[in-house]
Amino acid sequence: MNIHAVVLAAGKGTRMNSTLYKVMHPLCGKPMIEHVVGALEPLSLHNLVVVVGHGAEAVKQQLGSRVQYAQQKEQLGTAHAVWMSKDILAGQDGVTLVLNGDTPLVQSETLRRLLDYHQSKQAAATVLTSIVEDPTGYGRIIRDENGDVRKIVEEKDATLGQKKVNEISTGIFCFDNRKLFATLPNVSNQNAQGEYYLPDVLALLQEQGERVAAHVTEDPEEGSGVNDRVQLAHLERLMRKRINERHMRSGVTMIDPAATYIDSTVTIGRDTVLYPGTFLLGTTQIGEGCQVGPHAHVKDMVVEDYTRVPPFSSFDGSTYSDRGQAEVAATRDGQDYGRN
Ligand code: UD1
Ligand code: CA
Repeated sequence: MNIHAVVLAAGKGTRMNSTLYKVMHPLCGKPMIEHVVGALEPLSLHNLVVVVGHGAEAVKQQLGSRVQYAQQKEQLGTAHAVWMSKDILAGQDGVTLVLNGDTPLVQSETLRRLLDYHQSKQAAATVLTSIVEDPTGYGRIIRDENGDVRKIVEEKDATLGQKKVNEISTGIFCFDNRKLFATLPNVSNQNAQGEYYLPDVLALLQEQGERVAAHVTEDPEEGSGVNDRVQLAHLERLMRKRINERHMRSGVTMIDPAATYIDSTVTIGRDTVLYPGTFLLGTTQIGEGCQVGPHAHVKDMVVEDYTRVPPFSSFDGSTYSDRGQAEVAATRDGQDYGRN
């Protein structure tokens, strides 16, 4: 079966209050959109379409020819954004995943499980949901007395009772591709925001007697979105924890993981000890048995095995024209503290 994906990334990100376009804000060294596309790529997709509008050039420069692009000139809503990919996708067989470009914690495994669930339910549409403590800002999942999904109600359109529902839409969906594109033109914009809402496709399918399903995430944080910088900081903390745990499991010691900052692109050898306040950034590769910090700032460097990177030091390989020289500098400076 063909699997397609559409990533929505045309919005301005007004709530970020930034000149940098929302999906280009970095999380642990990579722009948000890169994390989302990175979760999709292992799924061997037939088509991977990114819908761009605001900041289109920056996104295209970031992702290059790894994806296809659809242009949304005016941001009329998420349903309208998906519709912009019709020239590539309409009329094709298969299943289409739709994701927002601002949910960077989503993982391939979760998307695979969503696809499996969607197929096992033989649904026309399946939404990935989370049970959260604070549902503010998210679409609420409205189920009927049998527990079946009726519709999704946006925060701004919700009644007081609906606002209390703590099962939310992550904005991640799985659709029968043909049924999705047959239904999108019927979505209206008669709502509080005057936008064409993608979540309304679920209610429309359901009214036509189609099966609509909801799959609850095991990890509610995976579906979290970034609308402002408070959420950005929160998600960065969660991602940092994920990265640090991966390194610790593969043999790296961290004196205080909460105060150790490692980009998702960095590699570290076994038995290396990272002291608090250490930043390992960019393309940095740390060898085995090194000691780094406290308070070391290491960017785009190759650090050989058994090197001591001194406390309160800063190395930036990207400022050296020759990478070899950068290696020497780290080792030489380390000598003051004795190489192991
Ligand atoms: C959206 C969902 C909400 C869900 C939440 C999950 C709608 C109407 N609401 O709300 O149900 O709980 O995500 O995080 O879908 N975008 C476009 N073109 C547009 C509008 C938006 O490309 O015309 C893109 C944005 O760049 C963004 C994504 O779609 O990446 C979601 O838009 P956003 O405004 O962040 O929606 P939310 O209010 O978070
Ligand atoms: Ca959002």
